[in-house]
Amino acid sequence: ATERTLSIIKPDATRRNLTGKINAKFEDAGLRIVAQKRIHLTKAQAGEFYKVHAERPFYQELVDFMASEPVVVQVLEGDNAIAKNREVMGATNPADAESGTIRAEFAESVGENSVHGSDAPETAKEEIAYFFSGLELVG
Ligand code: CMP
Repeated sequence: ATERTLSIIKPDATRRNLTGKINAKFEDAGLRIVAQKRIHLTKAQAGEFYKVHAERPFYQELVDFMASEPVVVQVLEGDNAIAKNREVMGATNPADAESGTIRAEFAESVGENSVHGSDAPETAKEEIAYFFSGLELVG
């Protein structure tokens, strides 16, 4: 079925000018970028976005990193978009990511891992609504 998922190109990737190369991976996999913007998150915004991880030992590091430099937030659409995006990203830890995946090619560490993608339909819906209004979402 056609789905939408929320993707974030993280500060380690925007800093190294990798937005185009990462977007090419999404598009080559059949994912359509239906909304996209570059923003600099405040710590409060990054903290709210990642609040499910609030009790994890890496939470503060994650929030500081995500607010350190601009990110590109985007909505990807396509058949099975959530799973497909996760496939294209590769494992969270680049050491475990399959070759050819975004994290295998570009990620610097488990924390600075170049991209985020929603993990399930319900979170995709919430995460898209966190960054985009209905008016910004054209199919
Ligand atoms: P992401 O998909 O954005 O969702 C939560 C993020 O937490 C994850 O990617 C990682 O970048 C980050 N993360 C997970 N484990 C660790 C860790 N051990 N140290 C730092 N960051 C982590």
